Amino acid sequence: MMRFAVHSIMTLKDFWYIIAASPDLQREQVIGARLFDEGLAVFRDQYGKAVALEDRCLHRCAPLSQGTVKQGQLHCAYHGWVYDGEGCVVRVPSEGERQASPRRARRFAVCERDDYVYARLLDADEEEKPASPSQELQPFRIPFYQAKGWASIRLQHLFPNNVTNCVENFVDIPHTAFVHTKIFRVSRNEKLTATVQRQDGAVRVTYQGERANLGIFSWFLNRRGQAIHHTDAFFMPNITRVDYRFAANRRFIITSQSVPLSDTETKVYTDLTYNYGLWNHLARPLIRWQAQKIIAQDIEILSQQMRVINKYGRRFANTEADVIHIFIESIREALAQGEDPRRLPERQRDIEFWV
Ligand code: FES
Ligand SMILES: [Fe+2]
Repeated sequence: MMRFAVHSIMTLKDFWYIIAASPDLQREQVIGARLFDEGLAVFRDQYGKAVALEDRCLHRCAPLSQGTVKQGQLHCAYHGWVYDGEGCVVRVPSEGERQASPRRARRFAVCERDDYVYARLLDADEEEKPASPSQELQPFRIPFYQAKGWASIRLQHLFPNNVTNCVENFVDIPHTAFVHTKIFRVSRNEKLTATVQRQDGAVRVTYQGERANLGIFSWFLNRRGQAIHHTDAFFMPNITRVDYRFAANRRFIITSQSVPLSDTETKVYTDLTYNYGLWNHLARPLIRWQAQKIIAQDIEILSQQMRVINKYGRRFANTEADVIHIFIESIREALAQGEDPRRLPERQRDIEFWV
């Protein structure tokens, strides 16, 4: 486990968020991205290194994401100002030989891990200082990504809701019997128990006594009806990881990264990583198709939820199954207030509910 020095000030914007999947960012191409309502123009410099500039030309505010990239330099679509990978204006066509004083666009910190491009809303120069308190925060590593014997499927979806409601949905069991009825679970009034723990900016849930109630997934996920080991986790500020283990080497992990485009829109990057021996290849189309269907159902209910919250405000009633969500909210609220959630006292609760 990663160890951190604990700082008292920490905000949601200190963290790394995905702005693109690496294969979607080709050389000689610029794409637009959004993070906390901030526009980013993302491209690769002449070395192939990803760069994110504020999506605003210094000249007359044309969006840089509408420009073109030539030899790793970004050309504004309006009057052709040219920016290099540092964000410096290296050519102003209308100035001819008489090039103006140096100008530089705002450039955000960017890194690439596990074939995702991450950015954070910290100026790149700040980021590069070794004393930067946020140096210790690294992107979440996708479990078993490209590991031997493991296959993975990547999906991206736009959810018309905020990050908190999205991450809660991804580790919420009771809804599965209703929103994903038959595909995932059916309601059969079966008792589930779990231990929920909040520690170090994370919430971990360990389920006990879960039996095969995984709908049509069961035929290949758990054909022999073996005992299921199921854990869920939330890691600050926006990651959920769902783990199913059916036998020693039969595992299925769903990692979701919920990226705040704005207060009401979240881009969710889902990694389905699984270890199914011979099935790895054969099951691929089915897993992808099922996952898309399940996610579409979640998007529908979450968009309705956001509509009602916008109208009536966020007023929730809680049951014991919602302890998980309350812990997650306490971590995200601490961050929203600029506090380091790792300073929250450790908590542990045993809960029971019926599915
Ligand atoms: S607005 Fe970009 S060059 Fe004029
Ligand atoms: Fe769901």
